[in-house]
Amino acid sequence: MKYDLVNANLFKKNRKKLAEKLSSSSMAVIHANDEMPRNGDQFFPYRQNSDFFYLTGIEQEKSVLVLCPGIADEKLREILFIRKSNKNLEIWEGHKLDLDEAKEISGVSQVKFLEEMDATLLTMLFEISDIYLNLPEFAKFKPEIESRDFRFLNELKNKYPLHSYKRLAPFLKELRLTKEQEEIELIKKACSITGDSFHRILRFVKPGVLEFEVEAEFTHEFIKQGAVGHAYPPIVASGKNACVLHYVENDKICNNGELLLMDFGAEYANYSSDCSRTIPVNGKFTKRQRELYEATLRVFNYAKSLMVPGTTINKFHKEVCKLWEEEHIKLGLYTKKDVANQDKDNPLWFNYYMHGTSHFMGLDVHDVGTKDTEFKPGMILTCEPGIYIPNEQVGIRLENDILITTDGNEDLMANIPIEPDEIETIMNS
Ligand code: GLY
Ligand code: MN
Ligand code: MN
Repeated sequence: MKYDLVNANLFKKNRKKLAEKLSSSSMAVIHANDEMPRNGDQFFPYRQNSDFFYLTGIEQEKSVLVLCPGIADEKLREILFIRKSNKNLEIWEGHKLDLDEAKEISGVSQVKFLEEMDATLLTMLFEISDIYLNLPEFAKFKPEIESRDFRFLNELKNKYPLHSYKRLAPFLKELRLTKEQEEIELIKKACSITGDSFHRILRFVKPGVLEFEVEAEFTHEFIKQGAVGHAYPPIVASGKNACVLHYVENDKICNNGELLLMDFGAEYANYSSDCSRTIPVNGKFTKRQRELYEATLRVFNYAKSLMVPGTTINKFHKEVCKLWEEEHIKLGLYTKKDVANQDKDNPLWFNYYMHGTSHFMGLDVHDVGTKDTEFKPGMILTCEPGIYIPNEQVGIRLENDILITTDGNEDLMANIPIEPDEIETIMNS
């Protein structure tokens, strides 16, 4: 692996927290992600299922974790099943974990090969009545592909139709919301690599560079520092491209006089970071660009100040939109009178700010947590106001990752340049 081994205590703690939520007559079975076929005989690069990683630290495909906290035999309370290697596999794919290595990474004392799984489960299943399985649960996102866990559910239901099948996802969603100190450190490392990549970009960008050349600079810095790669497809959007919120083509020229919006983040040890910065391609903001940028920065600072225990994404986003309305008026985008006459269901601010201010972040860039989840210390969210004005061919977004603390918050990207003067100074140094 490219990163230092994560202390197995993290995964032990995570399993313990989950086991405490399960009743004594239940079993939870969690699978690794599938290897996703690309074309021909190739797979897409493998990425472990975030829940599975959260509970085991194991990155190897085909692995299965079984938790059965109430079973009499202590040796059956936590079992990790892994694939058994063979000569052919070693020749083509290289080393696979042996039992001791899987034990060291995960902290699970009972590690077995997958060949033993069916028989082992058979000895356990008639001692329990509830089986918890981990199906993907995302509002507004329904993949067409059946996950490994889903296929396993069908298999199990056929064999054991009278057990009761339950949802594990709500427990994992709740647990993953609040980060352990080890997780915070990993996210800080991801943020630090992301910050270094931005410094590299500030020295690289000039009129005439291609957006994908900028993307390549990010990738270079991420991989060089041991990140897995990008936490999500990076956005490198010059000029009017910045008004396309999910622009990922990254294939245009960055022209003199344009702004360049970049949304980028390294993933380190499977933990994300998520940053946005907007810079002048030629190293100097025009008067209007600076006006727009400084308004965004004021909204960013205000939004950040609202990210404290007790609030929710929905609550603080409302306040942020109120400030945007004032800023839009000052920027001449519409007038107070227009606001007085606006359709309340289609407010004018929405024409220039059509996305949310924040989302939870962690193992996934859009991590578990809803817009009504109350902020608590240990949660990490983004703060990402923006302004998009197609008529002026300009889009600006500023985004940092914020840790909620008992007395407010800590900006995990506080040292990544954001002040316009600092950006100009570094670009021209
Ligand atoms: N990079 C994705 C987002 O900002 O939400
Ligand atoms: Mn974001
Ligand atoms: Mn982002």
